[in-house]
Amino acid sequence: MRRVVTFGTFDVLHVGHVLILERARALGDQLIVGVSSDELNFSKKGRRPIYSQKDRVHIISALRCVDEVFIEESLEKKGDYLREHRASLLVMGDDWAGRFDEFKSICEVVYLPRTPSISTTEIIEVIRQIP
Ligand code: CTP
Repeated sequence: MRRVVTFGTFDVLHVGHVLILERARALGDQLIVGVSSDELNFSKKGRRPIYSQKDRVHIISALRCVDEVFIEESLEKKGDYLREHRASLLVMGDDWAGRFDEFKSICEVVYLPRTPSISTTEIIEVIRQIP
């Protein structure tokens, strides 16, 4: 059983999120997703997510390609999460390329290309500009 683990905020779900989750799932038998807590997102990105962590977990759990979801409370615990969830493979978007290589002692690490021209930040900007 190959268990794939990935992490992200997944706020204001868009097709780039769904595509990376589907591609991650296709690399193994089960996909486990660590969804950033509201607090963690604030410390990482300097803003509160639009959707609460409860709703983001609910939405990600509802996707067909996702088997399990947990809340990622701290970036420092990545190694613990990978061990706890018995990861065979860690998948991250290539915006993080090279930054998780330290976990190669725990599992395989793969960076997948991001879907071009879409992000949560951009969607929020577009909505803000609607008069
Ligand atoms: N992702 C992707 N393609 C995109 C946007 C995101 O593959 N166009 C991936 C990221 O690489 C990450 C996961 O989706 O592995 C979750 O990313 P997240 O940071 O939640 O989404 P963004 O849209 O990048 O959010 P933001 O604009 O707030 O940084």
